[in-house]
Amino acid sequence: MIKFVSVGLTYPNLVNCLRNVNLHIQKQEFVFVVGPTGGGKSSLMKLIYRDAIPTSGKVFVFNKDIAKMRIREIPFHRRRIGVIFQDFLLLPHKTAFENIAYALQIRGASGRQIGQLVPEVMDWVGLTKRQKSYPHQLSGGEQQRVCIARALVNKPDILLADEPTGNLDPDTSKEIMDLLVRINSRGTTVVVATHDENVVNDYRKRTIVISQGQMIADRTEGGYLNAEEAANA
Ligand SMILES: Nc1ncnc2c1ncn2[C@@H]1O[C@H](COP(=O)(O)OP(=O)(O)O)[C@@H](O)[C@H]1O
Ligand SMILES: [Mg+2]
Repeated sequence: MIKFVSVGLTYPNLVNCLRNVNLHIQKQEFVFVVGPTGGGKSSLMKLIYRDAIPTSGKVFVFNKDIAKMRIREIPFHRRRIGVIFQDFLLLPHKTAFENIAYALQIRGASGRQIGQLVPEVMDWVGLTKRQKSYPHQLSGGEQQRVCIARALVNKPDILLADEPTGNLDPDTSKEIMDLLVRINSRGTTVVVATHDENVVNDYRKRTIVISQGQMIADRTEGGYLNAEEAANA
């Protein structure tokens, strides 16, 4: 589903961001990408949804070489990938319902589809009673649930979460992570980038460690390692 072959990424200002990354993520896997800030986690995620293309090597997603994708193919590619971030990026003047509906509207869904799909997905993430609330009326955890619902409403094959618990307290972080695990158990491939070791260590999931642009560990049974531990592993 996702394959990196000797991937290097250099930004125009010559920041060497990723080096020789080889990675294979199968359909329906759940993967944590961990490591220190600035290590390259977000850049790895950007390559998957084709917000960046590799400077060397190849990235294949859905068996397609992302560097060979035509500009007009990019929206179709992204339609199959839901993305959530640490800053929730909700539209402040739209309600929770409208924020989620918007993701359907821009893809041409009918009013009838919206009326059916939005309540369904809000129910699924536990926000049935929050449909009419505006983002500022919601807690951080609820806002992140709206973002998750917005990402899920188009039924993506892959869900990418870049520091999804970065702005949340430990208990709420756990709830959000449990929700991501539940999404994965329905069959969606989930990749979570985080530097929060507490979150990772609660789950025995495949954990990839990226430090200074290099993949320094890939542990199937999980467990967060810092760079030093990983080097000695
Ligand atoms: N758009 C960009 N332009 C230039 N340098 C960037 C850009 N995005 C990230 N970088 C650099 O690439 C490195 C990796 O960043 P990033 O992928 O955001 O790491 P992480 O998510 O692990 O914190 C850092 O040195 C960062 O400063
Ligand atoms: Mg990051």
